[in-house]
Amino acid sequence: MAISIKTPEDIEGMRIAGRLGAEVLDYITPFVKPGVTTGELDRLCHEYMVNVQGTVPAPLNYAPPGYPPFPKAVCTSVNDVICHGIPGDKVLKNGDVVNIDVTVITKDGYHGDNSRMFFIGEPSKLARRLTEITYECMWLGISKVKPGAHLGDIGHVIQQHAENAGYSVVREFCGHGIGKVFHEEPQVLHYGRPGTGEELKPGMIFTIEPMINAGRREIREMPDGWTIKTKDRSLSAQWEHMILVTETGYEVLTTSAGTPPPPAFIQKKDTVAA
Ligand code: MF3
Ligand code: CO
Ligand code: CO
Repeated sequence: MAISIKTPEDIEGMRIAGRLGAEVLDYITPFVKPGVTTGELDRLCHEYMVNVQGTVPAPLNYAPPGYPPFPKAVCTSVNDVICHGIPGDKVLKNGDVVNIDVTVITKDGYHGDNSRMFFIGEPSKLARRLTEITYECMWLGISKVKPGAHLGDIGHVIQQHAENAGYSVVREFCGHGIGKVFHEEPQVLHYGRPGTGEELKPGMIFTIEPMINAGRREIREMPDGWTIKTKDRSLSAQWEHMILVTETGYEVLTTSAGTPPPPAFIQKKDTVAA
């Protein structure tokens, strides 16, 4: 199966989906404070999607082969949770770090998938550095995207930056093609060698969403069938954007008023989301 090339109509639909996905993260930001539960954050995001945006949360009842239906609207992954944390009674406290991963489906059927890290009160030095390095990893990967580049170029820069910092790259989960389908080809690995893997072509859309552990890369699956934690209980961080391959480079589709700016070392492109 080949990687789909999106039509101009698809690309327009994905720009809208990306913006709406990012706007859910903008909306929830002021609520991510000590004392709030992950379940309350989920409820607020869900309500905003359905009642304000007219979108639908893609995770709710999502059930890939071998998984039970995901029971909530967003993923909330706290501290040593790598990804797919299920919102619930957990109360966020000073010093916690949480990833909130939002995927909306628009009325036209397009998916907008993105995630950000949030500090609860004052983070530890380690949590701050891990979160910053992971953000740089995502952006280094994004900066490699252009026609003629290979998926391995993206994985390589991410792995190199994470490991140079003394951290490790989670292998079991990766970025993915996306459109009217939530997860499609290609798999975007966050490790690899330059010049390997599929060649990028204009019109491809995929996510880059590195999961970086402060300790070892191994994972542990929780009995709920979804939650993934670090085996060694070390902290884990993740950021996610949805990227379009343009004729000259890339366009970040998950862009909103509140999108954090790229790291200073990223050259400003003429192709930013409208
Ligand atoms: N949003 C996640 C991703 O980046 C997928 C979450 S699937 C869920 O691919 F069911 F756990 F929500
Ligand atoms: Co994704
Ligand atoms: Co996501």
